[in-house]
Amino acid sequence: MGLIEPQTGFPPLGTAKDVTGFLRLDNVTKTYVSDGQPVQALCGVSLAVRDGEFIALVGRSGCGKSTLLNLAGAMDFPTSGRVLLDGVSTSDVNENGLTRLRREKVGFIFQSFQLLNTLTVLENVELPLLLAGESDACDRAQQQLDLVELGDLGSRMPHQLSGGQMQRVAIARAMVHSPKLLLADEPTGNLDTVTGNVILEGLRRIADEGKTAILMATHSSESAAFTDAIVKMRDGRIQEVVRP
Ligand SMILES: Nc1ncnc2c1ncn2[C@@H]1O[C@H](COP(=O)(O)OP(=O)(O)OP(=O)(O)O)[C@@H](O)[C@H]1O
Ligand SMILES: [Mg+2]
Repeated sequence: MGLIEPQTGFPPLGTAKDVTGFLRLDNVTKTYVSDGQPVQALCGVSLAVRDGEFIALVGRSGCGKSTLLNLAGAMDFPTSGRVLLDGVSTSDVNENGLTRLRREKVGFIFQSFQLLNTLTVLENVELPLLLAGESDACDRAQQQLDLVELGDLGSRMPHQLSGGQMQRVAIARAMVHSPKLLLADEPTGNLDTVTGNVILEGLRRIADEGKTAILMATHSSESAAFTDAIVKMRDGRIQEVVRP
């Protein structure tokens, strides 16, 4: 079981040696500006995630789950506080470094799958490796498709798949470069319970076998059974951390 520290009693802003896993948030605040008005999406959020830990982020619509995932993946940056990836604050990394970080260390799964419609299933999975200029992309993508039990469907186009199959392709693509951190925003949101559970079992296995930390925003209370901890959010704050 890994370590999650709720925001109360959190130690002073950490240095690299304090980091227990790949991802850590120290007293993070995020304020958007909308129509000239500030919107405080996150307020004093601190969270340390161990490698291989599978965490569910739950809370009502608008409580800040997607914002937290975007900051954790260095897609966006905190207004104050720090997001540390491998002990380095994302706000201190230049654009090239950020691109490499996102490509090599982080995987994303979105509710809408975001597969590229003009590429085959296999090409979709190969993409992160090709972008990173890695060799044997085709073989590794095929292996990943085999793992999600879609090895025979590599030559299909995404529109020829079911929703659950598309989501498994999205998982294969997110995992093909063995990221340290996997960020999943409502990955089972539009799947039936049985298919959703297959996806969750797959994520559980990835956390256990790959030592990949997984942060998953979800509205599904059933997903709790698959995770190490549930982080309950409310109005941009961590309200409670529950371990099933
Ligand atoms: N780009 C933006 N500009 C302004 N406000 C934003 C922006 N993105 C999010 N917000 C606001 O920040 C708050 C948190 O939004 P966020 O998307 O993180 O919520 P969420 O918990 O993911 O919700 P949901 O469960 O509906 O996906 C909301 O009040 C939202 O309106
Ligand atoms: Mg969201």
